[in-house]
Amino acid sequence: MKAIAVVPGTRDVRLVDRPEPSIAAPDEIKLRVVRVGICGTDREEAAGSRAKAPPAHKDLVLGHEMFGQVVEVGRAVTLVKPGDHAVFTVRRGCGACRPCAMNRSDMCRTGQYSERGIWGLDGYQTEFVVDREPFAVRVAPELAQVGVLAEPFSIAEKAISEAVHLQLTRLPDMATSLDWLSGKRCLVAGLGPIGLLAALSLRLRHADVWGLDVADADTARPRWLTLIGGHYVDGRQVTPQHPIEQFGTFDVIVEATGIAPLQFNLLDALAQNGVYAVTGIAAGDRPLNVDGAKIMRQLVLQNQVIVGSVNASRDHFQLAVDDLLLAEQRWPHRVADLITHRHPYADFDAAFQHHGSDEIKVVLEWAA
Ligand code: BGC
Repeated sequence: MKAIAVVPGTRDVRLVDRPEPSIAAPDEIKLRVVRVGICGTDREEAAGSRAKAPPAHKDLVLGHEMFGQVVEVGRAVTLVKPGDHAVFTVRRGCGACRPCAMNRSDMCRTGQYSERGIWGLDGYQTEFVVDREPFAVRVAPELAQVGVLAEPFSIAEKAISEAVHLQLTRLPDMATSLDWLSGKRCLVAGLGPIGLLAALSLRLRHADVWGLDVADADTARPRWLTLIGGHYVDGRQVTPQHPIEQFGTFDVIVEATGIAPLQFNLLDALAQNGVYAVTGIAAGDRPLNVDGAKIMRQLVLQNQVIVGSVNASRDHFQLAVDDLLLAEQRWPHRVADLITHRHPYADFDAAFQHHGSDEIKVVLEWAA
């Protein structure tokens, strides 16, 4: 079968042949891949950055944002049947630590995990994939067009639910209200797919959502944000003379830019008792000048939390799929607009290029 693979550390991305996988254990599920999203991590891998081939291979099949249709299941599988739609999660456990034993490899303690399409395991940019039931989530037929967003959404859902859980454990006014986000001022920085999906999750919970980016207000990302009731902040209007605080301070900040100086600057906008979830994996190695004492003083005197969040558990994928259904009801057909570019898989070269300010999510179609 066809697959798109990279030789890690090089820009050598090509269509390769891999043997079609088959069910080998009672709890396995075989999916025909329908479409697979491309994100910043994929583009970095394709440009020679962080990626690791499976043992005994010199290339790695790319892709970790998948959506597929079940073609066959092992005899112990109860979650799905042939014809259903499903997604597989990304990370696989180290086999040694407690979180991994609890199917929480997103919190692996040893760092010896692997990730499909990223680190040591072939990914999903291919025709068929097999994996185990504990790593699968069923996707309702109504979500056939948007199910491919489950993975990036799971990243946003994890970050937000961690932020809310932290607040639940420490704020005196939290204990009784599970809808704590309702009416809370939330800032999302970076309106790529993760940022916009974070905004979606927050809007579903009736938060007052502000989104920061550096695009013209009439381009795709700011427009999508305002269509779900968010407010757009053009980062180019934020200067030392007009600091981010001009928009007020925020109880929750979700960062999805990976731009280290901005990641620090956003602290200026964090409210008293606020929580700041960082999801962008900062690139580069240029040293930064930051006022360390000011930052630490602020954290202490204002009871603030900064939490880093990576990857997602099966439960976060389930939450993402459940929220996609709610979003379809609240804003019919709106979520599908997040997928701005679709390419047949053979056009992977073009798909990996940036498509300008109207790009949100690019996907490769495997079985359209
Ligand atoms: C993926 C995560 C992964 C992270 C680090 C992200 O693009 O969405 O699942 O853990 O990269 O490899």
